Amino acid sequence: MLQDLLDLARADSGHLHFRLNPIMLNTLVAEVAAMSQKVSNRLIHVLATEEDVVTCADQDRLQQVLINLVDNAIKYSASKQPINLILEKDDQCALIHVRDRGIGIPLPHQQRIFERFYRVDESMTRSRDGTGLGLAIAKSLVEGMNGRITLRSKPGEGSIFTITLPLWHP
Ligand SMILES: Nc1ncnc2c1ncn2[C@@H]1O[C@H](COP(=O)(O)OP(=O)(O)OP(=O)(O)O)[C@@H](O)[C@H]1O
Ligand SMILES: [Mg+2]
Repeated sequence: MLQDLLDLARADSGHLHFRLNPIMLNTLVAEVAAMSQKVSNRLIHVLATEEDVVTCADQDRLQQVLINLVDNAIKYSASKQPINLILEKDDQCALIHVRDRGIGIPLPHQQRIFERFYRVDESMTRSRDGTGLGLAIAKSLVEGMNGRITLRSKPGEGSIFTITLPLWHP
C-alpha cells in the first residue's frame, strides 16, 4: 500500500518515470492471462485479433495496470465465472478490455471508483479486502502513457474496463 501511495504521489507531481517502448500487446495480454490464471485458479480467456497490435508504453507499468484490472475482475465475480481479456485495434488505437460477469457497479458509483480510497459501499464489496487504490493507480499509469481507461457496467451482469492506448507507428 505504501508503494501504491508513492506511485500516486509521484504520478501527481509528474515524477513517475515511464520507459516508453514499442510493446507487442498480443504477447503481453497472453502472458498476463496465463500468469493470472495460474496464480488465481480462475479461467482467463484471451480473445485477440489475429493482427499484431503494437503500442508505445512502459511494459512493467502496463502489466501492473492489467494485473490490477484482472485482480478486480476475479475479486468481484463468482469463482465459476471466467474472465475475458479482449484485444483489438482500430485506425488509431489499441484497445484492451477486461470483462467479468460479476456483481457490476451501479451507475452513480461508476465515475467515483477511480478516486483514491473509493469503494462501493455494499456488502458484496465490503466483504472483499482492498484499500480502494487499485483503480486510482491504474488510471494515473494509463494516462501517464497517453492512454485512457473507461468502464461499462451493469449491476448483476458484470463490468468491462477498457484501456485505450495509441498505436505505435515505426
Ligand atoms: N470488476 C469490478 N466489478 C465490480 N466492482 C468493481 C470492479 N472493479 C472495481 N470495483 C469497485 O471499485 C472499487 C475500487 O476498486 P479498486 O481496485 O480501486 O479498489 P479495491 O479493489 O477495493 O482495493 P485494491 O486497492 O486492493 O485494488 C472496488 O472497491 C469495487 O467497489
Ligand atoms: Mg482493486
